[in-house]
Amino acid sequence: MLQVTINGQSHEFADGLTINQALKQLAVEVPTLCHDDRIQPYGSCRLCTVEVKGFNGLVTACNTQLRAGMEILTHSDTVNGVRKTLLGLIAKDYPAEAVAQFPDKQFHRYLREYDVKARGSRTAPQPAVPFMKDTTHPYINVDMTQCVTCYRCVRICEEVQGQFVWKAWNRGDQTRIGPVRGETLQDGGCVSCGACVDTCPSGALEDISILKRGVPTNWAKTICSYCGTGCEVNVGTRNGHITTIRPSMDGPSNHGHTCVKGRYAFDYITAKDRPLSPMIRRNGEWQKVSWTEVNQFIADKLREAAAKHGPDSIGVLSSARGTNEENYVAQKFARVVLGTNNIDCCARVCHSPTAAAMKMTLGTGAATNSLDDIALARTILVAGVN
Ligand code: SF4
Ligand code: SF4
Ligand code: FES
Repeated sequence: MLQVTINGQSHEFADGLTINQALKQLAVEVPTLCHDDRIQPYGSCRLCTVEVKGFNGLVTACNTQLRAGMEILTHSDTVNGVRKTLLGLIAKDYPAEAVAQFPDKQFHRYLREYDVKARGSRTAPQPAVPFMKDTTHPYINVDMTQCVTCYRCVRICEEVQGQFVWKAWNRGDQTRIGPVRGETLQDGGCVSCGACVDTCPSGALEDISILKRGVPTNWAKTICSYCGTGCEVNVGTRNGHITTIRPSMDGPSNHGHTCVKGRYAFDYITAKDRPLSPMIRRNGEWQKVSWTEVNQFIADKLREAAAKHGPDSIGVLSSARGTNEENYVAQKFARVVLGTNNIDCCARVCHSPTAAAMKMTLGTGAATNSLDDIALARTILVAGVN
């Protein structure tokens, strides 16, 4: 354990933390504009600077290791003054309308906390090296006039999604974030995971659904229903409609990330052709019926088929979108109630090679470890991929 003094109070911390990780354990917040726990510390914005007694100059909390005996000041006049100056430089040409429209964005919150005004405007003419604007993506709006050049989008796309869509072009005050090739996000190879939107602290990258429907007024934590991975998500709603779905940072199987389906494919909920009650087709017409009636109808048809052609004339297909328990019940129903072994699941089509190989090597055709165990492994052998 390390003994460290923070803002005059002595604390003990485990070895191996950065200063910022230690501060988080105490719920002491310093502004971290270029940092996101899902990606490696970068140390470019310098807003997280703190004073450490005996050190020459200020140190950045996000990428400095905590050491025994450190005496740290997080909000001295010196560091607050540096933060205010740095924020003022970033806010010099930053559109004030963006701050008013989305006051809760991370960067906008920092401006408020350090009493710094954004002095730019959305109607200002584009500079000689223009900022990217892209309205062609189906889910993401890009307006780089709001970019604070934190590189979080570039890094999260590389480190978390492995997609390398973004690139920092040019240098100095002409630095511009844009797609690695072409003009649009889709030209750059975006697969719409939404990670860059989640991490963007300013709203330069934003969900189109939020721009259209407004910021959520309610959040509900739930599990994505698309597949069996069990990604934890936060569903944001406004006026009874979903405006966005964001990955939960502490989801054990997704750790703050989702695929395109879990992140953006939620409009089916209000699709006009979505059946909202059970239906039976009679004389070529679909008729709405009660659950009691439809269950009786199915039971009668199954009995009729089994009596006429035997139980093996029936097959049951279950789904990877069901839980393990639901799939277990489906096979019990097939074997015990219907009397057939004709039971299958769509997961077998995708995963039969992996399941067979894992059964041979590990003894069971399923994962034998959690995702966290993979991060802790000293050696990883990857087979069958390029
Ligand atoms: S949405 Fe995902 S894939 Fe697309 S640019 Fe952002 S991080 Fe990369
Ligand atoms: S687009 Fe957003 S995340 Fe990317 S560098 Fe600009 S401010 Fe940062
Ligand atoms: S958050 Fe530490 S330098 Fe940006």
